[in-house]
Amino acid sequence: MMDEPAAVALTDGFGRRIDYLRVSVTDRCDLRCSYCLPKDFKGFETPANWMTHDEMARLVGLFVGLGVAKVRLTGGEPLLRKGVAGLAATIAAMPGLRDLSVSTNATQLARHAQSLRAAGVNRLNISLDTLDAAAFSQITGRDCLDAVLAGLAAARQAGFTPIKLNSVVHAATPETEVRRLLAYALEQGFVLRLIEPMPMGECGRGFTHTDLNAMGARLAAAAGLVPSLAESRNGPARYWTSGRGAPVLGVITPMSRHFCASCNRVRLGVDGTLYLCLGQEDQVPLGRLLRAGASDSDLVQAIRAGIAAKPERHEFNARPERIVRFMAQTGG
Ligand SMILES: C[S@@+](CC[C@H](N)C(=O)[O-])C[C@H]1O[C@@H](n2cnc3c(N)ncnc32)[C@H](O)[C@@H]1O
Ligand code: SF4
Repeated sequence: MMDEPAAVALTDGFGRRIDYLRVSVTDRCDLRCSYCLPKDFKGFETPANWMTHDEMARLVGLFVGLGVAKVRLTGGEPLLRKGVAGLAATIAAMPGLRDLSVSTNATQLARHAQSLRAAGVNRLNISLDTLDAAAFSQITGRDCLDAVLAGLAAARQAGFTPIKLNSVVHAATPETEVRRLLAYALEQGFVLRLIEPMPMGECGRGFTHTDLNAMGARLAAAAGLVPSLAESRNGPARYWTSGRGAPVLGVITPMSRHFCASCNRVRLGVDGTLYLCLGQEDQVPLGRLLRAGASDSDLVQAIRAGIAAKPERHEFNARPERIVRFMAQTGG
């Protein structure tokens, strides 16, 4: 696929090895989660600028050639993009790729779970903030909790492991609701991950975070869970387990205890923009370069230069007004 082999893996200016790429296959979504997308949002990317599947596969292939071993398809809502299972199959077949996952809101997962599994997707992260139908409608703008629960059942049946539930928990979230989610996750064999809201775009800034380390520890103690140190070393989440090995509860705390020193990821927007940090503006217009006729080695050079300049950390606490783009635009 590349016209020159990648001699050296991607390492940024702070010595961090970058081996994880998140790809936003669309910035559109059928929900309007209050912390993610404004209800009346009009600023979506025009379809002419969306990378085609072939263009996405070409860019992803370059990253995989540079040692990226983990890819996540996300958005917006990735299952709104036509043919996403085909794109997944192309990526899953790339030599060197070890892990292909999808983040989804699961509204359409009941229809797609089997084909994603057959395409080689091994893990799913599914957004679920509440099991209360009225609260779900209020948070997401749509009355479709049943469709999401059907999607979760289909995912379990299709054999994805693990299935992680991502829940944004903020200062006003009732802890009783989080306990209910944990009981559900334990019963269903899912992993519940609690996430502090980040001030991305004006809606992200509308939420105050609460220290989820403390809440996680409280919930874990009440459920008889113990810290899972091995799992906590593998990524941004800190986990608890029931003692049988696999984690069952995790917290992701970008605001109260950030994990930038061990960041291993970058993100590709639907137009091929490479975002180097969720909480900074630094970016590389790979899609524009590609459409202007850049060769694979030109693109590899642009990727390497971008990674070398990856910012040290986000500044969400010190400069919450900094990031005007919404989470759905960057690819969460
Ligand atoms: C942007 S969504 C994209 C994938 C898919 N639509 C979904 O909801 O899982 C990915 C993740 O970002 C999270 N997210 C969105 N806005 C956020 C914010 N302001 N702060 C923290 N997490 C956020 C969502 O809860 C979700 O778990
Ligand atoms: S969190 Fe996911 S489901 Fe919710 S609005 Fe954002 S992209 Fe859509």
